[in-house]
Amino acid sequence: LDAAREALGRLVRDVPDYPEPGVVFKDITPLLADHDGLAAVVAGLAHAGRDADGRPVVDVVVGMEARGFILGAPVALALGAGFVPVRKAGKLPRETHAVSYDLEYGSATLEMHTDGVRAGHRVLLVDDVLATGGTARATVDLVERCGAEVVGVAVLMDLAFLPWREALGEVAVTTLMSVGADAPETES
Ligand code: PRP
Ligand code: MG
Repeated sequence: LDAAREALGRLVRDVPDYPEPGVVFKDITPLLADHDGLAAVVAGLAHAGRDADGRPVVDVVVGMEARGFILGAPVALALGAGFVPVRKAGKLPRETHAVSYDLEYGSATLEMHTDGVRAGHRVLLVDDVLATGGTARATVDLVERCGAEVVGVAVLMDLAFLPWREALGEVAVTTLMSVGADAPETES
């Protein structure tokens, strides 16, 4: 995890006033472009899907469109698991479960194929950032609709000043870096 945190500190770029004035955007593209950095954060995220002896404990990794796809698929490979996408509304061709959630303005809908994960599967959710937690909360609900069990949510970064913890209730969260807090923190 130290290597992952070092990579995040070195390779995530702050972009002031993007996408709007007053917001500091965390650009992960330099991290993705760096082989060692990418390998370190994938290993760090995969750690959330292992037991104390390092054995994988998940059947499936679910990643949320779009940035959760980039990270989730290699995490699935690292864990010997499959990968299932959660997509924005209207993108999946077969029968889906759908969950809508509130954004600052309006709402968004996420979908997953109804047979994406199966009853009894143990599932790790992977995304880049936890902000309000709305995306992750909706994804937990989609996985649970299929009768599967969410083992945890793993992200590169959380925005410590936003209420993602409340949104996720009892769900275990692994975050490799806290933004807007004094110290990096991992909780589960
Ligand atoms: C961003 C980010 C997370 C989500 C976090 O995705 O990649 O998925 O927001 O915010 P939340 O905790 O408030 O839900 P976004 O919807 O911007 O789209 P993208 O991944 O397709 O870029
Ligand atoms: Mg996203």
